[in-house]
Amino acid sequence: MSKKTNLDRILTLEVVRATEAAAIAAARMVGLGDEKAADQAAVDAMRSAFNILHMEGTVVIGEGERDEAPMLYIGEKVGTGEGPKIDIALDPLEGTTLTAKAGPGALAVLAIAESGNLLNSPDVYMDKIAVGGGLPDGVVDLDKTPEQNLKSLAKAKGCKVADLTACILDRPRHKDIIAAVRKAGARVRLISDGDVAGVIFTTDPATGVDIYMGVGGAPEGVLAAAALRCIGGQMQGRLVFRNDDEKGRAHRIGIEDLDRKYEMEEMASGDVIFAATGVTDGPLVKGVRNGPDGVTTESVVMRSRTGTIRWITARHRHGKV
Ligand code: FBP
Repeated sequence: MSKKTNLDRILTLEVVRATEAAAIAAARMVGLGDEKAADQAAVDAMRSAFNILHMEGTVVIGEGERDEAPMLYIGEKVGTGEGPKIDIALDPLEGTTLTAKAGPGALAVLAIAESGNLLNSPDVYMDKIAVGGGLPDGVVDLDKTPEQNLKSLAKAKGCKVADLTACILDRPRHKDIIAAVRKAGARVRLISDGDVAGVIFTTDPATGVDIYMGVGGAPEGVLAAAALRCIGGQMQGRLVFRNDDEKGRAHRIGIEDLDRKYEMEEMASGDVIFAATGVTDGPLVKGVRNGPDGVTTESVVMRSRTGTIRWITARHRHGKV
């Protein structure tokens, strides 16, 4: 096993407490139609759970900038303030609409890395492309057309383009890319929300997804890159700015080249831990379940240094969560 890193100094499995707490809180809001309240519940719970973690943590991907997010904003210090310096990317509720509508696949998600190893991205959009592991380096590229990427992927997988499925967020902005994928002969799996999971699907043949394409949140892009670093796969991302205000936000956090294409390792480098807990049932993990004695959560926790992926089912006693 490769050399130990600073992440060993906090209990790596401890971080899952933060996603569990956020998921349990958000689950109380499933189906109530209130996206904001569901998000707030998850944020509050995750924020409290961080207090017990022995680290000098800094939120680098969070709920927004300080003036717009009272908690878990970019730059906020979390943890006990003692211990290793850790950068944190988080999305206490990935799938606010899914939660409000009791749809599938809402997650509480975070990634941690040693300080300086996660892309500090503003809360803008990101154009993304991702494939799973075991493929030649550079098999797909953000600068190539969907048809070129699908042909190259089919060749590498030893199948036909017609055997491939691309996962894409169901948004009007993706009209052209969806048409191009179908014209090339491949299938499209449209998802209503949740592109962290959409990217992770490419790593698991059981999902039937071969490639992820399209524009989603940049924070979700960094989180997905962290997950792929742990599981294996390839991903590229490029920030997408809709106006000067968004460009200004990028400049303020030190991004100079606004057109830069980021490789997965530039979004999440070094030793990375990724954790996700299900809020509602999805292909990755089951959602929170209420029973007579307590609440059951299902989480997945992975680490890039070891490549270990753990599924953790936990029962939390009523009155103690
Ligand atoms: P939220 O939970 O913050 O609503 O994000 C859900 C999500 O679907 C992400 O997975 C995705 O990256 C993003 O929204 C896409 O943004 P938009 O809904 O604006 O197209």
